[in-house]
Amino acid sequence: MADQNIESTLVERRLFPPPAEFSQQAHIKTQAEYQTLYRESIDSPETFWPRMANELHWHKKWDKLLDWSNPPFAKWFVGGQLNIAYNCLDRHLLTHRKNKAAIIFEGEPGDSRVITYAQLHREVCKFANVLQQSGVKLGDRVAIYLPMIPEAAIAMLACARIGAVHTVIFGGFSSEALADRINDSKVSLVITADGGFRRGKVVELKKNVDVALLKTTSVKNVIVVKRTGQPIEMTAGRDLWYHDLMTAPGLSAHHQAPPLDSEQMLFILYTSGTTGKPKGVVHTTGGYLLGAYLTSKYVFDLKDSDVYWCTADIGWVTGHSYLVYGPLANGATVVMYEGAPNQPKEDRFWEIIEKYGVTVFYTAPTAIRAFIKWGDQHPKAHDLSSLRLLGTVGEPINPEAWMWYHTLIGGTRCPIVDTWWQTETGAIMCTPLPGVTPTKPGSCTVPFFGVDPAVVDQKGHEVPPGSGGLFIIRKPWPSMMRTVYGDPERFVSTYWVQVKPYYFTGDGARKDQDGYFWVMGRVDDVVNVAGHRLGTMEVESALVAHPKVAEAAVVGRPDELKGQALCAFVTVCSGIRADDKLKEELKCWVAKEIGSIAKPDDIRFTELLPKTRSGKIMRRLLRDIAAGKETLGDTTTLEDYSILAKLRESDE
Ligand code: WTA
Repeated sequence: MADQNIESTLVERRLFPPPAEFSQQAHIKTQAEYQTLYRESIDSPETFWPRMANELHWHKKWDKLLDWSNPPFAKWFVGGQLNIAYNCLDRHLLTHRKNKAAIIFEGEPGDSRVITYAQLHREVCKFANVLQQSGVKLGDRVAIYLPMIPEAAIAMLACARIGAVHTVIFGGFSSEALADRINDSKVSLVITADGGFRRGKVVELKKNVDVALLKTTSVKNVIVVKRTGQPIEMTAGRDLWYHDLMTAPGLSAHHQAPPLDSEQMLFILYTSGTTGKPKGVVHTTGGYLLGAYLTSKYVFDLKDSDVYWCTADIGWVTGHSYLVYGPLANGATVVMYEGAPNQPKEDRFWEIIEKYGVTVFYTAPTAIRAFIKWGDQHPKAHDLSSLRLLGTVGEPINPEAWMWYHTLIGGTRCPIVDTWWQTETGAIMCTPLPGVTPTKPGSCTVPFFGVDPAVVDQKGHEVPPGSGGLFIIRKPWPSMMRTVYGDPERFVSTYWVQVKPYYFTGDGARKDQDGYFWVMGRVDDVVNVAGHRLGTMEVESALVAHPKVAEAAVVGRPDELKGQALCAFVTVCSGIRADDKLKEELKCWVAKEIGSIAKPDDIRFTELLPKTRSGKIMRRLLRDIAAGKETLGDTTTLEDYSILAKLRESDE
């Protein structure tokens, strides 16, 4: 396990109490209220969770709150039945929300659509019927490879409605990555689009699907949404147009949401880990929905009058929990934007906030750092006075970026919720409550209800306040992942053996004197590039699959904009010229194997990689070299001292 992030000397003393006007109207108004609820959630889960879960619609109430008889395999709300799509749609139709905007869509080229709850319900019911007519059954896996368009939410909700398991694959992933995921979960249907708009260009999604399907055998049908209108190939008998299916005579707009088991698998989302192969994180119905619903309500303080915008792509967990399930379960109005923040100009986000009167805005620190670089004139040119609450997620936020966000975007009046969580946790775990928790720039502050985090040493003992250690969670929580798809052993070995019997997050953190958590970043071989998780082993596997590469080691190094950047140390096969042309070739190769988000930022050729006598690559040394730091650590086990000097020489 790496140790680079555990120690930190950062001391941040600024404290920002929530504005009184905010607290007065917030769902949770006082520290005392939070403390009482939090204590109850930890000490008396059997009273806390049922009360919270009763805010959802259940076809049948559960018999048992939690079955933890076979840890770490949890079952929550055992015997209960509900339907997520019913909770996100049907139940709102019985209220004043029927004709309220559910999704306000803004396309990158400037087209827009407003879809009310009644309309969204109708589309989801129709598409649920389409799926069932196509032979999709309870438990079947459906891949969604779509741009950020309303049909993505419709497809997810239609799958959830019939109990099909969706696996959303980020549109930036390559056909290779798509094929791997389709094969891992034996997907029978793919939902895609002819293309999507991104940075003024068209992303050729259908073309990627066609290539991926040459390497897969499980897919029977491909449903294609027409988005860009560019010519594509349609394979007869396999490929079907979404608009044809949705306008077919006789297609009913009625669909009765069936009761589904609390533990019915809802989705698989692939995420990078410490081995070469991404793992399929499994979430189930009841606990996940409760987590997404409750955190959306309290962390974003959602009210009927809010216009809520989460900028995450649906291909990531944030898009699942905080663009689709959480806010819709609350009956909120959600803004969905298809494209890049600098298309056509660097003020696009601020223009959207002004245009729709966004009140709650949730984005990533990497985006904030880009905005800072682009200049204050862009937000200053727009009226951002509708905003009342800001959020961040995905990586630690540096205090300067926090202050800029607070001042320039929040006009110093908006609380900032720095939310720590993971694909695995399903929902936000550590966060301020906006009407209650005084914030400190760079800290995700305190645990949400039911979350019992700690910072411990390798033996599992809590470390003193202010000291760095491993970030763990001690109690099971409803929205926790249930397993790794098809590989329960990997679930155990990845999360539950390092600090037995607790859940190990993979992050390093410290807890300060006030009980606030400061997450320092990953302590495993996962790198967080622009808020996207990448396994260094995954990139290494891609590199060594190239015929000219003998060996590769990939590490993260600090990057001002992206948080971390990828640096690859590569040894080439004998007789191969290690030159700039090859560097470019290798970068493109990785983009083709995984996706452009995994493209190494630096490639450094070396004759040998530093290894211990037992043959392990000394990643700590490589990280220091990549960061341009002197190597202070213990190098006595280094096989060949001269390698270090050579690696430094190769520094460009
Ligand atoms: C990091 C994204 C510091 C962390 C929801 C975690 C954060 C990983 C924060 C999960 C935050 C996320 N402060 N670090 N507020 N939020 N992280 O699965 O390293 O894409 O383990 O989920 O992002 O990334 P994932």
